[in-house]
Amino acid sequence: MSAESAVTELDKGDRLLESGKIEEAIAAYRRAIELNPDDVQACHQLLEIKPDNWEVWLQLGKALSKQSDLEGAIACYRRAIEFNHSSEDNSENENRIAIDIEQSQLQLKQIDADIQELQVRRERVCLELDKLEYNSHVKQIGYYYTTDWFSHNIPNWRKYLNRFVNIPEVNVLEIGSWEGRSTCWLLDNILTHESAKISCVDTWQGGIEHQNMKGNVLLLCQSRFDVNVFLTGHSHKVTKKVGFSSDVMRLLPVNSYDFIYVDGSHEAEDVLVDAILAWGLLKVGGLVVFDDYGLGGGVKEGVDVFLRFFSPKLNLLHISFQVFVEKTA
Ligand SMILES: C[S@@+](CC[C@H](N)C(=O)[O-])C[C@H]1O[C@@H](n2cnc3c(N)ncnc32)[C@H](O)[C@@H]1O
Repeated sequence: MSAESAVTELDKGDRLLESGKIEEAIAAYRRAIELNPDDVQACHQLLEIKPDNWEVWLQLGKALSKQSDLEGAIACYRRAIEFNHSSEDNSENENRIAIDIEQSQLQLKQIDADIQELQVRRERVCLELDKLEYNSHVKQIGYYYTTDWFSHNIPNWRKYLNRFVNIPEVNVLEIGSWEGRSTCWLLDNILTHESAKISCVDTWQGGIEHQNMKGNVLLLCQSRFDVNVFLTGHSHKVTKKVGFSSDVMRLLPVNSYDFIYVDGSHEAEDVLVDAILAWGLLKVGGLVVFDDYGLGGGVKEGVDVFLRFFSPKLNLLHISFQVFVEKTA
C-alpha cells in the first residue's frame, strides 16, 4: 500500500463529499488515513465532517508531531482528550494521550533551549565578526591607538545610534575623547552626513586612573586624537574644546544635542555634574550614554543618583556596562 493510493483515496473522498455522499466520503478518508497515518489533509477533511472524533484528533496530533509542529500537535491532543471525556471507557485512552502531550511538551522545551543556545552563539559570532571588521578597518586607515576602551560597545552603539546615520544636522557632544577611538567610530559610522557635527570636550590630561600610565601615552594622547581625527577625512565636522567638562559644558547651548557621550571623569561628584549638565544640553528625544557604569565605583554612584532624580523625564533603554537613556521631557 503506498502513499500514492492514500492520495487517490483522499481525492475520492473529496469528490464524494462534493456530490453529497457524506458516509462514503468518510469511508474514503478513513482508508486514506489507514494507508498513510501521517495524512494531515485526510485528518482535516474528516474533522470537518466529524469535529468531535477524538481518534482522528489523536491521529492528527501524531502526524503533526512527526512534522515537528509540536504546538499544533499539543492542541490536537488536547482536543482528543476533550472529546474523549464524553466517550465511554476513556481512562486508558486518556492516559495514552496525556503521555503523548507530556512527550511533546518536553520536546518543545528542548527545542526552546536549543534555540536559546543558538541565539547566544550567534550573538557571540556576530560580536567577533564586528570586532574583526572594526580592527581591519582601523588597520586599513592607519589609526594610531594605544588603548581600546571602546570596540566592545559597537553592537549596542549600532543598535541605538542607527537612527542618526546620515541624518542632516545631527549634533553630538562627547565628554572624554582621549585618542579619539569613539570619536572616529562615530565619524566613520554615524555622522556620515556632510552637515553632521561633533564637539569633543577633554582636558587631554587623563583622569586620576591614567596618571600612572607608562611611557608617553598620556603626553601624546591629544596629538594622537588630532592625527586620528584627521585620518577620518572629516576633521571639519569636529570642534575640539580643551578644558574641564564642568567648565566647558556651562558655555554650550542648551537643548541642542541629539546624542551626548559621557566618558570623562570617574569621580562620583564629577559624573553627577556631567550627567546633570549634559541633560540640559540634550534635546528632548535625544540620547545620552554613560560609559563605565559596569565598573561600579564613582561612575555608578553618580549615574544612579542622576537616574533616581531624573527618572520621570527619561526612558532607560539599556543598562549594563554602559547606560543608554532617552530624554522624554
Ligand atoms: C576613558 S577616556 C575616554 C575614552 C574615549 N571615549 C575612547 O572611547 O577611546 C577618559 C577621558 O576623559 C578625560 N577626562 C577625565 N576627567 C575629565 C574632566 N573632568 N573633564 C574633561 N575631561 C576629562 C581624560 O582626559 C580622558 O581623555
